[in-house]
Amino acid sequence: MCKIISVANQKGGVGKTTTAFNISAALALKNSRVLAIDFDPQADLSKYADFDNTDGNPTMSDLLIGKVGMSKAVKIKDCIRHSEINNLDYIPCDINLANADLFLAGVLSRETILKRILNDDIIKQYDYVIIDCNPSLGVLLMNALTASSGVIIPVQVQDFAFGGLKTLTGVITQIQETINPDLKILGVLPTMVDRTNASKRVVEQLESIYNEALFSTQIHRATQAVESTKQHKALCLIKGSKLGEEYIACADELSKRIGA
Ligand SMILES: Nc1ncnc2c1ncn2[C@@H]1O[C@H](COP(=O)(O)OP(=O)(O)O)[C@@H](O)[C@H]1O
Ligand SMILES: [Mg+2]
Repeated sequence: MCKIISVANQKGGVGKTTTAFNISAALALKNSRVLAIDFDPQADLSKYADFDNTDGNPTMSDLLIGKVGMSKAVKIKDCIRHSEINNLDYIPCDINLANADLFLAGVLSRETILKRILNDDIIKQYDYVIIDCNPSLGVLLMNALTASSGVIIPVQVQDFAFGGLKTLTGVITQIQETINPDLKILGVLPTMVDRTNASKRVVEQLESIYNEALFSTQIHRATQAVESTKQHKALCLIKGSKLGEEYIACADELSKRIGA
């Protein structure tokens, strides 16, 4: 059965997109069929995948806006692109979703739009759908969490890393208690770990708060991350990349955690 997983944290710059893209590619490397969904109007995952925004085909924005009847309905199959080098299918996003909170305000059952979109036979052919969330607690995040069976929370290990984590887990609890009882926190993933004392301190705090929920894999800070986005190539495909190995370990741990 297809596992739908969100990568979420309302804080920006913590490594969500890097994690979503690289976990997707690492799972694909192990012959899983993976669909990565860019659900952030900033479209960073799309850029990572080298999306050609002049190709004329619909994006996640068109799919969502079409689903609520505000424009022509769009087929999900027409939104899926393929990244040859990364062996990955993906649905790109664009800036048209930036004011989703406003234009969806009056729409009935607006938290379930993505879930209804993904309830399509084409999704059943994938082993994993990985959703890269936007940095806010608005309607897009609610949609991603409602559609998912699991959520990964990347946390950049620096001082003030905890600001907002409680709010996020509170939102996850609300979703579990209302529309999606199946939603599980698959793990908190420490990102951009380095040798500084601040980094060590935050990792220790995360260990004491989250125990088993903390991934045993840690993602270290390395400039390879930026180079990988520029090359539009996942870290696990870059020869000798330590970060690539870490993301492979992270994907393995993820499969174990969901019992796949
Ligand atoms: N492990 C890492 N080491 C160094 N830089 C990283 C690492 N992970 C991500 N980055 C860089 O940090 C920035 C923010 O990461 P990103 O994944 O886009 O975060 P988010 O999606 O949460 O905003 C990007 O420029 C990215 O290339
Ligand atoms: Mg991002």
